[in-house]
Amino acid sequence: MRRPSIFSASTRPPLLVGSKARLRPKRSQDAVNDYSWRRDVELCRLDAATPILCSFEEFLESYIEELYRTSRSYRFAIETLDGRHIGNFSYFNIDETKREAEMGIMIGDRAYWNCGYGSDAILTSLKHIFSQTNLKRVYLKTLNWNIEAQKCFQKCGFTACGQLTHGDHYFILMEIHRPAKLKGE
Ligand SMILES: CC(C)(COP(=O)(O)OP(=O)(O)OC[C@H]1O[C@@H](n2cnc3c(N)ncnc32)[C@H](O)[C@@H]1OP(=O)(O)O)[C@@H](O)C(=O)NCCC(=O)NCCS
Repeated sequence: MRRPSIFSASTRPPLLVGSKARLRPKRSQDAVNDYSWRRDVELCRLDAATPILCSFEEFLESYIEELYRTSRSYRFAIETLDGRHIGNFSYFNIDETKREAEMGIMIGDRAYWNCGYGSDAILTSLKHIFSQTNLKRVYLKTLNWNIEAQKCFQKCGFTACGQLTHGDHYFILMEIHRPAKLKGE
């Protein structure tokens, strides 16, 4: 049976529940955490991003605009199972011809680093993608010195597939392919 394409303008991202983390669609209340994470110098450095300098009011205006814009991406908040917002996860650059998408993840709340939330969020989303959509490859970019992140991605089944330079930043490209046979098929 042909799986539906991942993206449809009328489709909201689903709620995905893992064993430690759950992924839910982004909402405007996430702006407070997102603002502090986007200003956090260390978090930005780990993601090759520039910390934002604008006021919360300015941030919120564009945040809400972005939230309701239909774009070819799926954006989720990562929560603990009891509903604490600890990070973000997204699929973007969705290419329906090549049947692939790029993913990004960030656990913003340091208290939850290296506790299994990132890998659970990734594995939960991959299970959904590879069983419910027609995508067959997911890839990501991570800074070449961010070994902790690379270990997490390797643990989830990603393998290195290339390198990329952007300005002064050197990235490793990693990928995972849809398994030939999924459990239950
Ligand atoms: C990278 C990130 C998503 C990983 O999520 P996480 O919840 O911290 O990672 P997990 O606890 O699921 O770790 C899975 C594996 O990654 C590795 N790992 C994670 N953090 C590590 C650390 N501090 N040191 C060494 N290995 C680490 C381990 O191999 C671990 O497996 P194990 O627990 O069986 O040993 C998260 O730490 C994060 O967002 N960090 C800050 C931002 C960042 O680095 N962003 C870059 C994303 S490209």
